[in-house]
Amino acid sequence: MNKMTVRDIDLKNKKVIIRVDFNVPLEGDRITDDIRIRAAVPTIKYVIEKGASKVILMSHLGRPKGVGFEKEFSLAPAAKRLAELLSLPVKLTKDCVGAEVKSEVAAATEPVILLENLRFHKEEEKNDPAFAKELASLADIYVNDAFGTAHRAHASTAGIAAYLPAVSGFLIEKELQYLGQAVNNPERPFVVILGGAKVSDKILLIENLLKKANTILIGGGMAYTFLKAQGINIGNSKLEKDKVGLAKELLEKAKAAGVRIEITEDFVIVPSFDSNDGKISDVIPDGMESLDIGPKTRAKFKKVLDSAKTVVWNGPLGVFERDAFVNGTKEIAFHLASLKDKGVKTIIGGGDSSAAVSKFGLDNKMTHISTGGGASLEYLEGKELPGITALNDKKAAGGCGCGCR
Ligand code: 3PG
Repeated sequence: MNKMTVRDIDLKNKKVIIRVDFNVPLEGDRITDDIRIRAAVPTIKYVIEKGASKVILMSHLGRPKGVGFEKEFSLAPAAKRLAELLSLPVKLTKDCVGAEVKSEVAAATEPVILLENLRFHKEEEKNDPAFAKELASLADIYVNDAFGTAHRAHASTAGIAAYLPAVSGFLIEKELQYLGQAVNNPERPFVVILGGAKVSDKILLIENLLKKANTILIGGGMAYTFLKAQGINIGNSKLEKDKVGLAKELLEKAKAAGVRIEITEDFVIVPSFDSNDGKISDVIPDGMESLDIGPKTRAKFKKVLDSAKTVVWNGPLGVFERDAFVNGTKEIAFHLASLKDKGVKTIIGGGDSSAAVSKFGLDNKMTHISTGGGASLEYLEGKELPGITALNDKKAAGGCGCGCR
């Protein structure tokens, strides 16, 4: 990465504001997946160890209305979990900007301060310069470690970088290292597994990967539109009618580019989406729909994966949230974990695929699990991420190490 990181700047006696992504799933006050909080810990610890005089964290959570405090979107559960993970007290301020917050930050004796949800102010998502400046006024140095939000040009991810020396944390560095290497310089054969509900969500991704991958395996809900494009009967399975032509085009492009494509070839079928009575079948008869890849497809996918040196996986292969349709996604996940042990680089795109890997207890069994859903998708599509672009280039620092520009 040619952007400055926390390693490139003197943090001693500096007030450091770190953008983290604590947008974690909650059931009431209970965090159901804390991977994003755990992933922020190395940078926070490093900044403390390097002698920062204040460590101020900021994040959004969910999509509140932007007109002030809403309890259900408070970062209080994240502050509590972070304190447990750091074994240090964490102060949660009442808001993220304003005179009271300034006093709270100045008076805080806790080693870590977390500002309340940025999105309680609509100015955050509008990338309002005055709001960005106000956040910047709390610190001397800005660190962005919110990879999950790096695709948003918001005040705390992009605008603030105009007012402070701006560097990345270790999480962003790691995400770009793994995702970047996988798509730009993969050890080959490079195999991509694509799933998830809709083709329309993945068009740009497929187009970009057609320039890079050796093989693409397609399962999940999006496979049925591709099967339809090949004239295969899909019964009542999920179909994006208006994307059948596009799916056909993508298959032709793949052929022209010499990219092998393998699509679901047997199924777990049910009479209706609500039914859990799945049956394995080579065809999808009229009146039935498929909710998972069948055993032949799993075996074929695994065989292709056995030849890979790099694998990127984006999107589950069936309705893995329900036990009756978990097997396709689960078998492939366990297979990837075993391949990682043999030296294959296994990289999991964020969102649903990382939720699936977590559900199977394989969090530590992959080379890299991205903390970004939308952000990793956009990065793999080849787009620039505003939260990364805004950071200082290494050469722009002039090598003095003080963070000046
Ligand atoms: C995410 O979960 O993808 C990020 O935290 C960004 O959240 P957003 O989609 O609400 O901007």
